Amino acid sequence: MLLKNKIAVVTGASNGIGRAIADVFLENGARVIGLDIVEAESWNKNLTMLKADVSNTADCERVYQKITSLVDDTDILVNCAGITRDAITYKMTEEQFDQVIAVNLKGVWNLTRLIGPIMQTRCSGSIINISSVVGIFGNIGQANYAAAKAGVIGMTKSWAKEFARKGGNVRVNAVAPGYTMTNMMRTVPKNLLEKFQNATMLGRLAEPMEIANAVLFLASDLASYVTGEVLNVNGGMRL
Ligand SMILES: NC(=O)c1ccc[n+]([C@@H]2O[C@H](COP(=O)([O-])OP(=O)(O)OC[C@H]3O[C@@H](n4cnc5c(N)ncnc54)[C@H](O)[C@@H]3O)[C@@H](O)[C@H]2O)c1
Repeated sequence: MLLKNKIAVVTGASNGIGRAIADVFLENGARVIGLDIVEAESWNKNLTMLKADVSNTADCERVYQKITSLVDDTDILVNCAGITRDAITYKMTEEQFDQVIAVNLKGVWNLTRLIGPIMQTRCSGSIINISSVVGIFGNIGQANYAAAKAGVIGMTKSWAKEFARKGGNVRVNAVAPGYTMTNMMRTVPKNLLEKFQNATMLGRLAEPMEIANAVLFLASDLASYVTGEVLNVNGGMRL
């Protein structure tokens, strides 16, 4: 029960890694507000699912009002919603570039700008941003995604400094998952998945729960002296 009586907001909670994070938080005693662009029924009495588009600033402000009407304070924010729109650079459209930046980079800013300062005023909180192995190593056909995920690391380090000021005591960290078996991987060709798998020391892809457990650590008091860090959860990948 690492998160007993904690209130957590998790974006992208309908599927994949976000859903695993919601599950592991619930198992550890948290009350979870899950946000997703896809409407989803709650599957646990301590979980409320709300529809929201993280890339849309006005929609985030609307859903934030809803959150404050449901719970007193947010202790943990996990920015997990993400998309890919892959293309080799000369074929990448402006729309593909803008969509990925809007969801994966601005989407992280949209909620953190609302919740982070309140955490700082309360002098308590943990924010975890989901980056990617691609934000660290780069990847062919993913310049948009790599830019967004590297940008998430820059924002994480900036916020770790900003929200800790004046006794703020808010910890901000990133998790950079390796390739994980979710819907996002469905469009990746089998030979590429094998290549990524072979580039790990453990010789396999991740399960969503293995990423969620790292997020649980950073969200909990076990990580009370960890901030401004990027936790690589990639099976020892070297690209
Ligand atoms: N799967 C991987 O291999 C992998 C690796 C590294 C990082 N990541 C990152 O992990 C996070 C979760 O990815 P996943 O693999 O679980 O993908 P997924 O597609 O299974 O889940 C992503 C979720 O985000 C939601 N979402 C998409 N756009 C949204 C928006 N505008 N507003 C709100 N919700 C939105 C989707 O509806 C979905 O439920 C993403 O940030 C992704 O970039 C994934």
